[in-house]
Amino acid sequence: MDIETLTRRYSLGYRHHLFETVLAVHADCFEWMEMAPEASIHAIVTDPPYGVKEYDVDQLEKREAGNGGVWRIPPSFDGHTRSPLPRFTALDEGDIDRLKEFFLKWAELALRILRPGGHVFLASNAILSQPVFAAVVEAGFEFRGEIIRLVRTLRGGNRPKNAESEFPHVCSLARGCYEPWGVFRKPFMGTVAECLRRYQTGGLGRLPDGTPFCDVIQSERTPKRERDISSHPSLKPQSLMRQLVYASLPLGKGVILDPFMGSGSTLAAAQAMGLFAVGIERMEGYFEESKSAIPALAKLEVTLEHWDLPTGAGVKGVQGRLPMELSGE
Ligand SMILES: C[S@@+](CC[C@H](N)C(=O)[O-])C[C@H]1O[C@@H](n2cnc3c(N)ncnc32)[C@H](O)[C@@H]1O
Repeated sequence: MDIETLTRRYSLGYRHHLFETVLAVHADCFEWMEMAPEASIHAIVTDPPYGVKEYDVDQLEKREAGNGGVWRIPPSFDGHTRSPLPRFTALDEGDIDRLKEFFLKWAELALRILRPGGHVFLASNAILSQPVFAAVVEAGFEFRGEIIRLVRTLRGGNRPKNAESEFPHVCSLARGCYEPWGVFRKPFMGTVAECLRRYQTGGLGRLPDGTPFCDVIQSERTPKRERDISSHPSLKPQSLMRQLVYASLPLGKGVILDPFMGSGSTLAAAQAMGLFAVGIERMEGYFEESKSAIPALAKLEVTLEHWDLPTGAGVKGVQGRLPMELSGE
C-alpha cells in the first residue's frame, strides 16, 4: 500500500485531499460505501452522528442561532459558559426507529467493504448505545464488547426539573462519566491465526510494550490546544484516537476507514501513528477544515501512559510490528 494506491482505490471520483498516509474524501458515506471495493478495508474507527439529525443543515443552523433543536447549552455550574451539546433525550420513539434503520443500513454497507475479521470501533453514548449496537448486530456483525472511555461528559446529574429544592438529594439521570465504544467484528472462517495470515485482521493490536489492549481507557475531554485547531463540535482527543487506531490494526498493516470523519481526528491519529486511513465527510465546511486540522493535529506530541515509545514519532520500528515500508503492503 502507498498513498497513490490509496487515492486511486478510494477517491472514487470525489473531491479529496491527501496527506502522508491518509486520504480525506468529500462524499456521503452511504453513497461512497456502495461503490468502495468489496472486502478491502481492514478496520473502521468512527464517531457517527448520534441523533442522526444533529448534523443536518437545519439543526446546525439552530445550533448557530442558539435556538432549540437537539443542540442544548449544558448548565453552567462553575461560572464557565459551555458549548452546545446534542441532547439525545430530546429524541422521540420515531427518532429512535429512524436511528435503528440508519445504523442497520450503515452496518450492512460496512459489512460489504470490510475484510473478514475486520473490526469496527463505534463511538456511542450511554443512552443510545443499546438500540444502535443491536442494529449493528442485526446487520450481521459479531458483538465483541465495548471500550469504556472514562471521561466527564456533562450529561445527567441534574435534580428533577422545576422541583430542585423539593428533591435536593435526587438526580434524574446518572452524571455521565464514560463514553461507550461498541466493538464489532466481521465474521470469518477458521482461527484468528489463519485470519491474521490471510487478511491481517481478526485480532487487536497489543500496546507497544506487549501488554494487551484494555477495554477501559482513562481519557480526557478534548484539550484546548486541539479545539483551537478544529472548531468541530465533536472533535475527539488525539490521546484517545491514537490508541484506538493502533489497536484496530493487529499487525499494523492495512487501511482504516472513518466514514464520519468530521474535521479528521481519526485520520490525524492514523497519520501520527504511521498508519493508512481514509475519511469521508459530507459537510463541505468540515471537509475544508480537515485540510488544515489533519496535519496540525497529527503533529502534536501526545503522552500516553503505559506506552513506552514517544507517540507522534509514529510506530515505525516498534518490536513485533514491521515498519510500514518493510511490510510489503
Ligand atoms: C460526530 S461527528 C464526527 C467528528 C469527528 N470525530 C471529529 O473529531 O472531527 C459526525 C460527522 O459525520 C458527518 N456526517 C453525517 N452524516 C454523514 C454521511 N452520510 N456521510 C458522511 N459524513 C456524514 C457530520 O457532518 C459530522 O461531521
